[in-house]
Amino acid sequence: MKQEATHDQIMMSHDYDGIKELSNPAPYWIMLLFLGTIGFSLFYFVHYFGYPNNGRDQVSEYNQQMAQFEKERQSQNNDASGLAMIDTKEAKEAGAKLFTEKGCIACHGMKGEGNAIGPNLTDHFWINGCKPENIIKMINEGKPEKGMTPFKGILTDAQIKSLTAYILGTLVGSNPPNAKAPQGVECK
Ligand code: HEC
Repeated sequence: MKQEATHDQIMMSHDYDGIKELSNPAPYWIMLLFLGTIGFSLFYFVHYFGYPNNGRDQVSEYNQQMAQFEKERQSQNNDASGLAMIDTKEAKEAGAKLFTEKGCIACHGMKGEGNAIGPNLTDHFWINGCKPENIIKMINEGKPEKGMTPFKGILTDAQIKSLTAYILGTLVGSNPPNAKAPQGVECK
């Protein structure tokens, strides 16, 4: 026998083998509470699951936070403050080692003199600016469309600063043999 009787309307009149059911609705206030939770769940769903996409769902929030973090990290990475502090003999030596080990020599020459691929890093001419923050930015972000590899994620901030100290403190003005012709703007 089917037992589809639940509440209200049908109950009063039905009669299964003499068994009847009373209409016994939940109290008004509990129904209100119940409907309230349904209403709230709808609001919650739309608000936090982002339909229609309102940018407040978890994925959007995650992406927004990551974008914000990435922006801050970027500006910190490109921030040359602290360079003066690491413009030391040790930093330049570490930079010199990295320059060879990390393959900068492949495109900028053994002594930074430049080659068919990359520009001379020993003269006073710069395509992308000669300030420490310009150099740090170039190493970080590279310029893939021109063939300069981005090194963020490959090198640490400290390594990039050492390389910058090496380039600006040791390479520039070193007049290596076979130097590539100047490119860019003279930096005074
Ligand atoms: C695959 C080749 C390649 C490698 C590897 C490479 N570079 Fe470059 N680099 C280039 C090219 C090409 C440019 C010129 C980009 C342009 O035209 O603005 C450049 C530009 C630069 C500049 C800016 C020069 C200027 O005149 O503005 C710096 C600084 C620099 N590289 C440093 C480095 C360092 C440090 C490394 C190693 C960690 C490195 N590069 C590795 C190809 C390379």
